[in-house]
Order: sequence, then C-alpha cells, then structure tokens
Amino acid sequence: MSEIVEALTAAQTARAARRAGEILRAGGLVGLPTETVYGLAADATNDRAVARVFEAKGRPAFNPLIAHVRDLDMAKAHAVFSPLAERLARAFWPGPLTLVLPRRADSGVSLLATAGLDTIALRAPAHPAARAAIEAADRPLAAPSANPSGAVSPTTAAHVAEGLGDRADLILDGGPCPVGIESTIVKVEGEDLVLLRPGGVARAAIEAVAGRPLRRAAGAVEAPGMLASHYAPAARLRLDVETPRADEAFLAFGAPPGDHPHTFLLSEAGDAVEAAANLFAMLRAADALCREKALKGIAVAPIPASGLGEAINDRLARAAAPREGSGIGD
Ligand code: TXA
Ligand code: MG
Repeated sequence: MSEIVEALTAAQTARAARRAGEILRAGGLVGLPTETVYGLAADATNDRAVARVFEAKGRPAFNPLIAHVRDLDMAKAHAVFSPLAERLARAFWPGPLTLVLPRRADSGVSLLATAGLDTIALRAPAHPAARAAIEAADRPLAAPSANPSGAVSPTTAAHVAEGLGDRADLILDGGPCPVGIESTIVKVEGEDLVLLRPGGVARAAIEAVAGRPLRRAAGAVEAPGMLASHYAPAARLRLDVETPRADEAFLAFGAPPGDHPHTFLLSEAGDAVEAAANLFAMLRAADALCREKALKGIAVAPIPASGLGEAINDRLARAAAPREGSGIGD
C-alpha cells in the first residue's frame, strides 16, 4: 500500500508538499486532494511520468489529462488565452473550472498528456494541498482522478489507496473533498463556449460571467474521455426512483422514506451542493452494501437539474448506462 501522509494543518501541508515536490520532480506519482476529487499527479512536462499515470490507472486509451497550474500566469505559458478565456479564469480560479484552450507551440507539457491534440485542458485547483504541491514542484501537474479506469472517482485518501494499491509513491490526505464532483470542463472556441462536462461550477454561474449560453457538446468526439458508461459501480443503478424496493440500496434526496433499511442520504435538505459532496462516497458505500447483503442494485431518488444537479445527473446517467465492456473511462 502507498504511504499516506496527512496534509490537514498548514504545517502538515507544507511538510507533505515538500516531499511531494521532490517525488514529482523525480518523475514519481503523488495522490493528492483537490477541492473536487483526488487526483493522481505527475510532472506534466515529463513523458515517462505521464506514461506511468496511464499505466497506474489501467487506462486502455490515452485520454488527454488536465494540467493543474498555480494560477493564470503559469497557465499562460501553455495556452493561448482569448479575452473571454481570461475573464473565466479570473472569475473561477482557483476553483473547479477546467478550460480547454489552444495549446501554445512552446508549451513544455508532454504531448502524451494532451494526447497529441492542439488543445490543452488547464485548471488552477483551490485545495491548499494541491496548490502547495504545484508550488513545490514548480511546474504544471498532469492529474486525472485517482481511480482505476472506469471506477468511481475518489473523494478520500482511503479511496485512493483502495483503488490504486501501491501505485502512487505517496498519497497526501487532505480530508474529504469539499466539492466532491469533478470540475466543469468548458472549451473556449473564439467567442463560443462548449460545455464538455458539467461539474463543480454550475452552468448558470459561467453563463453569468460569460454573458452568453454554453453550448452542450455534441458527443464523445469533443470530450475524448467522456464515454457513456463511466463512474461505474458494480451494482446496477435505477434512476428517478420515488419508492425503492426493500432489496435495493437507496440514495435519497430530500426527506427519505422512513422505513427503508438501506438508505443513504445525499442531502436531507434537498441541497445539490451537499449531494454532490456526498455522491461518490455514498455510491461506493451503497455498492459495498449491495455486495455484502446481496441486494439487487442501487435505486436513486430524482434530483432536480438546477445548479450542481446537472453534474450529479450526468454522473448518475453514466453510472447507470449499459457497460461498454472495455471498461474505457477515466
Ligand atoms: O476535477 C477534476 O477535473 C479532476 C481533478 C483531479 O482535477 N480531474 C479529472 O480528470 O476529472 P480526468 O482525467 O478524470 O478527466 C479529465 C477529462 C477527460 O474526460 C478528458 O477527456 C478531458 O478532461 N480532456 C482533457 N484534455 C482535453 C482536451 N484537450 N480536449 C477535450 N477534453 C479534454
Ligand atoms: Mg476521471
């Protein structure tokens, strides 16, 4: 099992980040918390280190990775920012927004990390441990979610260790991820904005800053890693269920049915932000309960599509989709 070090207090974070920085600069892999989900980080400028990330995840295809940067300044060394892109970065960074932008010809980011595309995905994370690790490494960090390919994203250090075994050289434990769902990915094409993945920043907040609507991506071509079946627990999911059966685990949203024995409360208050933070941990727990008690599957209550509900429903639809067999996902 990989070594786990705490990065909760400022002193712990500084110490952990120093070690993480050394490992990353030497081409190693570090599991680290971001405000969305845990990432498996490597030096984005080191091809071999990036290749180890794909290997560790068992990723059958080289989906492009997000390069995590300290700030807009670092980002500008790797991508061409239009005025609109810069406005979005200034409004939402550090935070759960990933921008897909034209890659600069002189970016030192590994071509493997961007899968040979002429675009690059960039994000400045808000979590103090992630920020400290980038600072210590002093270079962008390529980091996909720290789960084996096709599995549910990790929101605790224990999930990372469970999923990846000893494949990370170090795991920083910064506690449970406060947002709990991956970043919103927006591709900026001139004055046009394409929503590649709904996530931790709600569509309406981005549209308010941009002053224009987000176009929804046409399909998997625009977001190479976004295949229909994804985030898949082993148990079958039934969505929009008002009345769960006794032989199902139930993810409730709002007041739960009083007498159901296997209920997980995403948010009793019906709050999508709270539900997003609980989603992946409760999917895992419900999946484990199905195994343990031989339940038939996981039923999920209807969740309104407003705010972070769009991202939650996206992840649930993927988790419920027929499996594509190959387990391709990220
Ligand atoms: O919140 C997050 O975004 C987390 C944390 C760790 O930052 N990361 C994450 O990474 O979810 P990953 O690799 O699991 O998902 C990244 C997605 C993939 O679907 C990938 O295809 C897409 O970003 N992507 C990366 N570069 C892209 C590009 N140049 N064009 C289009 N999509 C891109
Ligand atoms: Mg992922």
